Amino acid sequence: MISRSLLQFCLMLLFSSEISCLDCNRLHVLQTRMNSDSLERLEKMGGNFPFQCLNERTAFKPRDILKIRLSQQENAKVAIKQILKELFHIFNNNLTQAAWDGTSIKEFQNGLHQQIEKLETCLSAEMEKEITYPGNETILLTSLKLKRYFQTVDDFLKEKQYSQCAWEIIRAEISRCFPILDILTKRLENEGTIYLFFLEKTQIILYE
Ligand SMILES: *[C@@H]1O[C@H](CO)[C@@H](O)[C@H](O)[C@H]1NC(C)=O
Ligand SMILES: *[C@@H]1O[C@H](CO)[C@@H](O)[C@H](O)[C@H]1NC(C)=O
Repeated sequence: MISRSLLQFCLMLLFSSEISCLDCNRLHVLQTRMNSDSLERLEKMGGNFPFQCLNERTAFKPRDILKIRLSQQENAKVAIKQILKELFHIFNNNLTQAAWDGTSIKEFQNGLHQQIEKLETCLSAEMEKEITYPGNETILLTSLKLKRYFQTVDDFLKEKQYSQCAWEIIRAEISRCFPILDILTKRLENEGTIYLFFLEKTQIILYE
């Protein structure tokens, strides 16, 4: 009875959206593809870096996101979710002067949104458990560093009043976040295995 309704639920998911029950076990594959799609859209959205903005480029001095050290025990899901949400937030600022193709902007925003949703759908229960895990300094410290990094991006845009050059500088900067996302996504692959192993163990205990 239970397994039959579960099967129906899976079929419903399969037909109602792109998410199937199997996808959650292969979340890293989906996320890797979506990372590269988003980067492609970001690059396609505008043309080459405008010549007239070269001077302003040095005005932006962020902490280098590539230098944020992500330790091995890092909870990759928490970091990926945070980066995606920050990106979504940034590209929801005033884009009037950005002189980018409107359709590409929408595609980029929708892509990020879907990526966040899929991550949350597959992992919500698991993530709640980890976030409430008390005093995990590694996760908190990374989260704080990421927050500071994206704050400098936000502040820069605000200070430059969302000018075309400011947006071009940020577009170039943001493309550097994707290698980080790829590294974290790779860790998801290993975590998935551990999680499944954990589930099997729990079942054995329950049936004993
Ligand atoms: C966005 O910026 C433009 C000027 O660049 C301004 O005219 C418009 O009102 C702003 N829109 C919002 C929603 O703030
Ligand atoms: C934080 O979590 C990681 C695994 O996610 C664990 O290895 C580490 O010991 C935890 N740190 C603390 C201070 O609890």
